[in-house]
Amino acid sequence: MVTSSAPGKVYLFGEHAVVYGEPAVPCAIERRARVTAREIDEGLRIHSEDLQLDGFTVEYEGDGEGRPDVDASEPLLEAAMGYVNEAVAQVRDAADAPGAGFEIRIESDIPLGAGLGSSAAVVVAAIDAATRELGVELSPEAIAERAYQVEAAVQDGEASRADTFCSAVGGAVRVEGEDCRTVDGVGNLPFVIGYDGGAGDTGTLVAGVRSLREEYDFAADTVRAIGDVVREGESVLGTDDYETLGDLMDFNHGLLSALGVSSRSLDSMVWAARDAGAMGAKLTGAGGGGCIVALDDTEDALTALKYTPGCESVFRAELDTDGVRQE
Ligand code: PMV
Repeated sequence: MVTSSAPGKVYLFGEHAVVYGEPAVPCAIERRARVTAREIDEGLRIHSEDLQLDGFTVEYEGDGEGRPDVDASEPLLEAAMGYVNEAVAQVRDAADAPGAGFEIRIESDIPLGAGLGSSAAVVVAAIDAATRELGVELSPEAIAERAYQVEAAVQDGEASRADTFCSAVGGAVRVEGEDCRTVDGVGNLPFVIGYDGGAGDTGTLVAGVRSLREEYDFAADTVRAIGDVVREGESVLGTDDYETLGDLMDFNHGLLSALGVSSRSLDSMVWAARDAGAMGAKLTGAGGGGCIVALDDTEDALTALKYTPGCESVFRAELDTDGVRQE
């Protein structure tokens, strides 16, 4: 039996545009998914009591092939099981063990579908734990590549390498198409996360941006402008110029809003953080609901968000320099 864990992440810059080849900078945060894998004779059994679905417990039995058959009234849960199913297919391929069976146990302190990279963290940790259980050790980069294949399969080809690479290697990373690298010298940025308790459907939101981009040149320009914000942001990353970094986060949020992926609760959390003096604030991840990330080295944004209607929880997130690891 092997347990591995992998971190979630926030996007400092560049979500959505990264799907179209623009650069993005996600940062791993100290909130982890832990996956335990045990080899069994055949099939796939998944247990999770902690996917932050209000007391929902899942006992899923599948064969590790195709989409799992779980209660469709729990779409997020169905999605989570879909990711694990595909991850196991990658493990069987990596270990050249097509018939390997697994019992998989998932615990996560990353809310599902909330823009903090929950699915990537579960997939990365699952691939690491299950391959090790079969006596195969993959590099973080190899795990990242396989985890990306999982996301692409589950999201019908609409995925970037950003979440999976960041979760596998940890720290701040830069992803542009297939070029994934660590950004050195980024210290612990003063991130404050606000969570509205909801979630967005990544596939639907990505598809929405795709059709806007196809319909309007100015939407395509907006996607390119996000790339420009990221390039500008990179020039101050690693310095203590948080004011500029924050201004660029604000700009990035405005462009994401223009692409229709913000929401009323995300906007109110962003404005509450800014009004409290945060240096910048933006939604993180696919949007539609879920989390915002603000940059604030005082307690003010944290306190303001606690009293913001629509904000269910708020916490500081430390940069996690560790990626996937065996527990
Ligand atoms: O909300 P998350 O954590 O699944 O992030 C999605 C990020 C997108 O750029 C919208 C999609 C992707 O695959 O990069």
